[in-house]
Amino acid sequence: MRSLFSIVLLMVLGSALAYKSYSGYQVLKSAPLTAASMPYINRLSKHFDFWGTPGVGRPATVMVSPEQAPLVVAAFNRMRISHEVLIPDLGPEVERERLEREALEVAHSMKPREAVYDRYMSCQEIHHYMRDLSAAYPEIATGIIFANGTEGHKVKGIKISNGNVGQKALWFDCAIHAREWITPPVCLRIIDEVIADPALRDLADWYILPVANPDGYNYSITTDRFWRKTRSPNPDPDCPGTDPNRNFDFLWDAGNPTDYCSEVYPGTNAFSEPEVSGIGNFILDIADSLVLYVAIHSYGEQILYPYGHTVEPVPNVDQLIAAGTASADAIAAVAGTTYTVENSASGLYFTYGASDDFAYGRGAVQYAYTYELSGGGSAGFDPPASLIQPVVDEVWPGIKALVDYVLAN
Ligand SMILES: *[C@@H]1O[C@H](CO)[C@@H](O)[C@H](O)[C@H]1NC(C)=O
Ligand SMILES: *[C@@H]1O[C@H](CO)[C@@H](O)[C@H](O)[C@H]1NC(C)=O
Ligand SMILES: [Zn+2]
Repeated sequence: MRSLFSIVLLMVLGSALAYKSYSGYQVLKSAPLTAASMPYINRLSKHFDFWGTPGVGRPATVMVSPEQAPLVVAAFNRMRISHEVLIPDLGPEVERERLEREALEVAHSMKPREAVYDRYMSCQEIHHYMRDLSAAYPEIATGIIFANGTEGHKVKGIKISNGNVGQKALWFDCAIHAREWITPPVCLRIIDEVIADPALRDLADWYILPVANPDGYNYSITTDRFWRKTRSPNPDPDCPGTDPNRNFDFLWDAGNPTDYCSEVYPGTNAFSEPEVSGIGNFILDIADSLVLYVAIHSYGEQILYPYGHTVEPVPNVDQLIAAGTASADAIAAVAGTTYTVENSASGLYFTYGASDDFAYGRGAVQYAYTYELSGGGSAGFDPPASLIQPVVDEVWPGIKALVDYVLAN
């Protein structure tokens, strides 16, 4: 009886928890922000879910639940920030995206050693793909487990190298923010290119981590589309998770230490998240050879360089801008998409404990960037699956141009 009861209970819970509904959620878009409004936006961003990086001259995009909508509207009105409704009801968008993903998963199942770019892959598929590669090309491709997430998914990347002694190293990570689904395909494309081209491997050793937050990524696919953080428990059971990109051990800032529900909750201490300490310590281990660190995020069409907490220029700012501009030019040459090259804090939106600042400030990696790829606009957070390929096709030349610049300078 007891076990039957448990099974029924699990089934009820299972279906209720199966997929978070965003019915009635809205996405609001402000007019381009002014410098005067930024202190206010910085505070609001601790409590509401801003998509992309708000900043001076750019509109802010914020997702609100039905309960939050009047609060944010009132806050915008108080600040005289005009705004419009970008997405009146996210529910159908999320449902449409989920059904499309599931249908494509059936129609386009993976073949061995072939990544797919016409749908968003699961973490499991991405891990299988890397396992296949290291089995097929053991002399150049080596799987690396950086950490285990608190829910048990492995933080798994790949080192691709010709085995030349004393080479410089390059690092790329994707999807440290779980919901940024457009980012793993870019990491996979980098892997494909480097596996296929021995000349790229003679330039440097390549470290690529397609899903830096696998617990969260899996959860965003199976349960909650807009999950961003890790899945580690907090004292408030309703609000688990830490923002991994505020948890690195450089300029870490506790903020409000009990604000567990915040999408940018930085954790109880720097490196509290196993994913983050695993990645961060590995970066320090290879820092002597590492000349380029790139974190790939979405969205905003930006190439951001350190630091996130100050607009004060760093010593090699001219080189950072020159390399970033070479990359942006190469992206624009493909289909005209314009990426801006900016100091992370130049929009007066301030961040602490971010991975690129850590690589630059703690690891002394001379070139460190955060790429913010294209978003989905009125389609939601990420571009529809049909646009994965065009995004990947334009970003890869930008990555190649960046690498060429960095290795030549
Ligand atoms: C999510 O994780 C569970 C448990 O590890 C696994 O069975 C499932 O296939 C994963 N889903 C995806 C989309 O990777
Ligand atoms: C991850 O967990 C496995 C056991 O599943 C263990 O062998 C491994 O050492 C762990 N890796 C790290 C980096 O903690
Ligand atoms: Zn992000």
